[in-house]
Amino acid sequence: MANGLADDLATTVLLATDRPILLAPAMNHVMWAHPATEANLETLLARGIRTVGPAAGELAEGETGMGRMSEPLDIIAAIEAHFALPGPLKGRRALVTSGPTYEPIDPVRYFANRSSGKQGHAIAAALAALGAETILVTGPTHEADPADVAVTRIETAEEMLAACRAALPADVAVCAAAVADWRIAERRNQKLKKKVGEVPILRLTENPDILAALSSAGKQRPRLVVGFAAETEAVIANATAKRRKKGCDWIVANDVSADVMGGEENLVHVIDANGSDTWPRLPKHEVARRLAQRIADHFTPTR
Ligand code: CTP
Repeated sequence: MANGLADDLATTVLLATDRPILLAPAMNHVMWAHPATEANLETLLARGIRTVGPAAGELAEGETGMGRMSEPLDIIAAIEAHFALPGPLKGRRALVTSGPTYEPIDPVRYFANRSSGKQGHAIAAALAALGAETILVTGPTHEADPADVAVTRIETAEEMLAACRAALPADVAVCAAAVADWRIAERRNQKLKKKVGEVPILRLTENPDILAALSSAGKQRPRLVVGFAAETEAVIANATAKRRKKGCDWIVANDVSADVMGGEENLVHVIDANGSDTWPRLPKHEVARRLAQRIADHFTPTR
């Protein structure tokens, strides 16, 4: 591009257009750092061409470094920001919960679950990419903060509920977090000491149900409340019952008997008052994109 070569379709189109150009470069990390690449990039930037990425991480050739193509949702967000396109959720506020909760036993121990936060974070990214002002309330995860999302980090279910309430009002809430159903009834302020021949008995108490609380928040209730249902059997029947019990509008049900938690893919059924819709097995970011689009269509059905 920088040299005006047009010997394939991409470079030909890029040279034959007078439209604004946003590049998402991706290449080997040594190549990216090469002075030749740097000089070419400078030339392009000076011509008004803009870039998104590359990101650091695993590269196609098996090496690691700066050169990974930006995630598609980050590219969409950059396109919308750069070209000032109003997304279909522009002007809407979205609240998303993600990740596990950590419930402390004493100052050094806690119990938790295997949720990676991948699905919840991808949903926050997808809603933001469609223009929603998005707040993500998340338990501890290894996921990076999604672009253009306000992130609140919490550890316990009680903290998650308080952060969600503080984030209201919202037009839509998506509860994808794997909230611990219980916490330790009497949390110790000092480390529980080991005594030979004795095991502690930990009494549990019920945690608040954040999805149910948001669904019954009266005037503060988001217009659309979406929950998840992690089931290991009778997935659709159990999730349909869960939708009614929790008072939410939609339930995204998944079968967690396989390796969904922490995995890259998800097979879900979206259940609303009219019935259920089974989606094919998809990468989690694609489930997120479809869900965000379904939410946008719900608010603007004519689209
Ligand atoms: N959820 C929540 N707060 C809780 C428990 C669950 O907000 N204390 C939400 C989850 O984010 C999810 C939905 O409720 O959107 C269902 O979670 P799930 O674990 O499937 O349901 P449970 O209520 O825990 O029911 P069970 O474990 O008996 O299936």
